[in-house]
Amino acid sequence: MIPSDADYARAVELLCAGELVGLPTETVYGLGADAANPQAVAKIFAAKGRPADHPLIVHLAGHDAVDHWAEQVPAIAWELMESFWPGPLTLILKKQAWVPDAVTGGQDTVGLRVPGHPVALELLRRFARAQGERAGIAAPSANRFGRISPTTAAHVAEELGERVPLILDGGACKVGIESTIVDCSRGEPVVLRPGHISPQHLEAILGRCPKIETAQGAPRVSGSLEAHYAPLTPLRLVSGERLLDFLNAQRHRGGRCGVISANQPAQLGMPHTWRLMPADPVGYAHDLYGALRDLDHAGVDLIVVEALPTGADWAAVADRLRRAAAGSGVA
Ligand code: TXA
Ligand code: MG
Repeated sequence: MIPSDADYARAVELLCAGELVGLPTETVYGLGADAANPQAVAKIFAAKGRPADHPLIVHLAGHDAVDHWAEQVPAIAWELMESFWPGPLTLILKKQAWVPDAVTGGQDTVGLRVPGHPVALELLRRFARAQGERAGIAAPSANRFGRISPTTAAHVAEELGERVPLILDGGACKVGIESTIVDCSRGEPVVLRPGHISPQHLEAILGRCPKIETAQGAPRVSGSLEAHYAPLTPLRLVSGERLLDFLNAQRHRGGRCGVISANQPAQLGMPHTWRLMPADPVGYAHDLYGALRDLDHAGVDLIVVEALPTGADWAAVADRLRRAAAGSGVA
């Protein structure tokens, strides 16, 4: 599972030559390119089928590189880095003038993150040794635009196939959903995308609960488009009380469902494919994209997900499921 020396050397060689590399992070797999090379970054958009005005996250080997990419970094951002890097937190900061528009989608800010996966960190360190100490890897999630993010190397191969010359295999992603995004470029920190690092975690550092703005409208954050993280099979959220009645009705109609539930074990006699999920939000997040992907391949007519509890600790997975439902069933 651990890449060899030769794998890393090949990955660095490809990145330096302006080519793409699939890489593991602790959240989801990324599709990486040299963030300082606009032609290389353009290949990311082409491979994903992603609109070019969507900004990318730049991954760095450590805090030391931040000033090379961002300016006017507020004290609070440094505190967040100290507390959560390496880890699943992306900070939006004012960009340095030289940072290519290809990376920032033409905005005056840049998203930065030091990932917590040992393979990602080793690759970033080796890339920095080859390309200059403050080099960064621009990497969105390694899925086709709008689809389910990959949490294994096999998922990346399934999504992108020949479009990516090398995928480093770092095993299954620990967190399973994308990083928390906090905008520190506008004074008061604002959460743009919920994730494993929760508002409560942030509050412990900020001294108060951050504003949360998972905007509709303009896609400053591509994950904030309504339709995202979506299977090809239609997906519906159904409340726990209605679940069994709903599934029975589907059965009478001859419909086969893929069921995702954290509470309700598989029902005997039902023709449905069942996926019992961990009942805690961290375990649920870890399994979510794999479960969606499996059921999308199971040949069912409908994916039925039991609605989640409403608590703040479920917000990040609830966000992904709502968007998956909005974007599902579109071939
Ligand atoms: O966990 C993650 O963040 C993964 C791994 C690979 O690091 N990456 C990821 O990338 O989820 P992507 O491109 O799928 O989502 C990155 C999000 C996008 O929604 C993008 O709009 C937002 O970050 N973003 C990047 N730069 C931004 C900026 N300057 N202002 C606002 N949003 C930004
Ligand atoms: Mg993505």
